[in-house]
Amino acid sequence: MNQDVSDNKKNSSIFVCVIAAVAAFAGLLFGYDTGVISGAILFIKDQFALSPTVEEAVVSAVLLGAVIGAASSGQLSDKFGRRRVLIVTAIIFALGSIGTAMAPSVAILIAGRIVIGVAIGVASFTAPLYISEVSPAHIRGALVSLNQLAITCGIVFSYVVDYSLAGNESWRWMFGIGVLPAIVLGVGMLFLPESPRWLMSRNLGEIAKKVLAKVRGREDVQEEINEIKETLGEESGGWKELWEPWLRLPLFIGLILGLFQQITGINVVIYYAPTIFEFAGFNSAAVAILATAGVGIVNVAMTIVAVKLVDRVGRRPLLAIGLIGMTISLTVLGIAFSLPTLTVALKWIAVGSLMLYVASFAISLGPIFWLIIAEIYPLKIRGRAMSLATMFSWICNLVVAMTFLTLIQKLGKAGTFWTYGAICIVGWVFCYFFVPETKGHSLEEIEEHWKKRKGPRAL
Ligand code: BGC
Repeated sequence: MNQDVSDNKKNSSIFVCVIAAVAAFAGLLFGYDTGVISGAILFIKDQFALSPTVEEAVVSAVLLGAVIGAASSGQLSDKFGRRRVLIVTAIIFALGSIGTAMAPSVAILIAGRIVIGVAIGVASFTAPLYISEVSPAHIRGALVSLNQLAITCGIVFSYVVDYSLAGNESWRWMFGIGVLPAIVLGVGMLFLPESPRWLMSRNLGEIAKKVLAKVRGREDVQEEINEIKETLGEESGGWKELWEPWLRLPLFIGLILGLFQQITGINVVIYYAPTIFEFAGFNSAAVAILATAGVGIVNVAMTIVAVKLVDRVGRRPLLAIGLIGMTISLTVLGIAFSLPTLTVALKWIAVGSLMLYVASFAISLGPIFWLIIAEIYPLKIRGRAMSLATMFSWICNLVVAMTFLTLIQKLGKAGTFWTYGAICIVGWVFCYFFVPETKGHSLEEIEEHWKKRKGPRAL
C-alpha cells in the first residue's frame, strides 16, 4: 500500500515536470523569436535595401506585437482557460513563422513579425501562469522558472541557428525553424490537462478534482480543493475588479517589478552585446560572435543556478543579491568607459563586468519577475492582472531598446551605464520593501494574506 502511495507520488512529480517542460516551450519560442532577428536582419537589410527607419521597424515589430498580445489576452485566459490559450498561441507562432519565412515583401515581413510578437506577448505570461497553477508549493519556484530557463535557451538556440545559416544567407530558414518548437508546444498541450484552479473558477469542480489527484499523485485532494473554493467566494467581474482596494498593492508590485526588470537594462546587453564589446575596444567579427555567445551561455548557466536555489533560498534573497551584483557591475563598466584609454586589463575588466551583470540578472530579476506575478494575484483576476504587468514590462522593453543609442549620445557610455546602475539601487530598495517572500506558500495562502490587508513583508 505504502509502496503504491510513493509510486503515485513519484509518477505525479514526473507528470508535473512534464507539464512544466511542455509549457516551457512557450518560453523557448519567446527567446528564439526575440533573438533570431539579430542575425536575420543583416541579410534582410541587404535583400530589401532597407532604410534605417524600416530596419528599426522590422526589428521592433515583435516588441510592438508583444505589447498588443499581452494587453489583449488576460481576459481570454480567464475566460477560455490557460490550456486553450496556449494551444491557440502555438498555432499563431507557427503561422507567424511560416508567414515571415515566406514573406514576399517587407510589409508582409513586418506584419508577420507583429503576429509573432502577439504570440510572444500571450505566451510570456500564460505559460508561467499555467505552470504555477499546477505545481505543488514546495517546487513551484523551480518549475515556473523553467520557463525563464527556456527563454534563455531559446535565445542561445537562435544565435546558433543564425550562425549556422549565416553562410548561406538563409534568413527565411532562420524564421522558419520557429515552427518546430511551436508544433511541440501545440501538440504537447493537447495531451495535458487544464489548470485545476482555472477549472474550479469555472465551476468544474469534479474535473478539477480529478486533475489535481493526477498531478498530486493521491486521491485525498479535498483539502486543496476546499482552499481553492474558499478563495472563489464572489463572482468574477471585468477589469474594474482589478482596482478593488485590497488588490491595488499586488497590482502595483507586479507592475513596478516588470518596470525594473526592463529599465535596469538587460535587453541593452541582449540586443546590443557586440556594440558594447566594440565600446570596449574589441571590434572584429569573431569577437562579436564570442560576445553574443558568452552573454547567452552565462545567462543560461546562471538561470539553472536560480532554478536550483529559488525554492531553497527564496525569492527575496536572490533579488537582493542579484541587484547588488547588477549595480556593482554597471558601476565598474561605467568607470572603465569613463577612462580616456582602455588598457588590455581594463578591456577584460569591462568584459568581466558585463558577464557579472548578466549572471546577476539571471539569478534575480530574470526568473523572479515572471514567478512573482504568477504567484501574487488572486485566482479570479490572475490572468488579467498578469497580462497588465506583462504588457507594461513589454512597453518598458520597447522604450529601453529604442532609447539606448540616444542615451549613449546624450549621456555618454559611462553616464548611460551609471544611469542603469542607479536604477538598480532604486530597484533594490523597492524589492526590499515591497516584494513578498512567496516561497513555500500555497497560492491560496498568498491570496488570503492580501485579503487581510497585510503588508508584503509580513508574508
Ligand atoms: C526578460 C526578457 C529578457 C530575457 C533575457 C526575460 O525574463 O523578460 O526581456 O530578454 O529575460 O534572459
